[in-house]
Amino acid sequence: MLNTFQQANHAALPEADAAELSRQEFVKSLKHYVQQGILPGLGPIYRTRAAERFQKETGRAPADRHDIRKAMVPDAYFQHYASVNRISQELLWDSVIDSIDREGEGLIARAEQAAASNKGELRIGEGFEVPRYVSALDIHCMPGGYAGRPGQDDLRLGALYDRGVFLYAMGYTGPDNDDMGRSVCLYIKAKLEGFQPRRILDLGCTVGHSTLPYKELFPDAEVWGVDVGGPQVRYGHARAGAMGLDVNFAQMNAEKVDFPDGHFDLVVSHILLHETSGKAMPQIFRECHRLLAPGGYMIHADLPPFDLMDPFTQFILDNETYYNNEPFWGAMRELDQVKLAKDAGFPADSIRFDTAPMAVMMFAQAEAAGYSLDAADAVAVREFTAGEFAPGGGWEVLIAQKQA
Ligand SMILES: C[S@@+](CC[C@H](N)C(=O)[O-])C[C@H]1O[C@@H](n2cnc3c(N)ncnc32)[C@H](O)[C@@H]1O
Repeated sequence: MLNTFQQANHAALPEADAAELSRQEFVKSLKHYVQQGILPGLGPIYRTRAAERFQKETGRAPADRHDIRKAMVPDAYFQHYASVNRISQELLWDSVIDSIDREGEGLIARAEQAAASNKGELRIGEGFEVPRYVSALDIHCMPGGYAGRPGQDDLRLGALYDRGVFLYAMGYTGPDNDDMGRSVCLYIKAKLEGFQPRRILDLGCTVGHSTLPYKELFPDAEVWGVDVGGPQVRYGHARAGAMGLDVNFAQMNAEKVDFPDGHFDLVVSHILLHETSGKAMPQIFRECHRLLAPGGYMIHADLPPFDLMDPFTQFILDNETYYNNEPFWGAMRELDQVKLAKDAGFPADSIRFDTAPMAVMMFAQAEAAGYSLDAADAVAVREFTAGEFAPGGGWEVLIAQKQA
């Protein structure tokens, strides 16, 4: 785990003063306490009293994660866990909003200056319609959600996400919040030998945390990050400029991307799919197929399917659905993604789930292959431990190749 002050600084990042920093450290530590101090008690509570109570009331043992939820929700210990967890999430965003409000126009001016040094394009959709599954609620309780009010495109929501998600992940995704993108990039380098994408598209990029490693590791490629959140891509463009990378950003819907057929060699996404819907996902897969050139790859890194874990773990992870405004979090893990890819046109024998080892595991290999991670990344990747996205010790990826 990294400390609050170990997020890599850049010109567009909100600057916290001492009081704000200590509030941020408090919320990050509170989250850590919830996970390390309270959460481990849920298992014993379930085994020693909640399952028994369920059995007495229904005449049978809990059969799946839904039954486990019914058994646990009335329990005072679970209620305590769920409420402190929710409060820590709300406090987290509040602690960052304090810095953004105090900095005001100063932060916007800094970000705009950084944006000017990004030679990549920025496209914001005029009258763009944000899908309801994003606009209807503030996903992970982030005030304003990803997209903000219709037409809102100031940089503050992006700044809020950039800092807030570092605290949410408790620094486990590294100083640039980019472990997922970096890990998938290293996976591509290691597993898809000789594959040199010339045009890369990252769907649901938010502020480009996972997008930028593609530019670092494929410097000659044209890299695009697209997202339905106007404030997010505007900030992402500025952040890339602040980090010295020329990367293109656009406000676009992954269901209907404004690029011609066969335009990209590689289409990726990182924790996008679970933020969409059962109706949107098949359309996104079809769109990936349309956008790819023959022989191109689609790779989605997202939450592992529930059938890879026991019902109690499913119940724990599914708490995000119920208490963190993530309505599709559980349902997405039950969809047959291999079938979706097949139905979208990918040849059956090209589709597979795999694990992209976290950058921590790839570190030695990356160095041997001549890619350098800077010192701060090295510290972060070494400390990175398997989180809920990666029960097998890596990021779960669905990979498919368009017919050559
Ligand atoms: C969890 S965030 C993704 C994080 C990001 N990929 C990363 O690795 O840092 C999910 C993002 O998906 C975006 N999103 C949801 N539905 C979308 C869609 N249909 N098209 C494009 N972006 C979408 C949201 O606006 C949000 O920014």
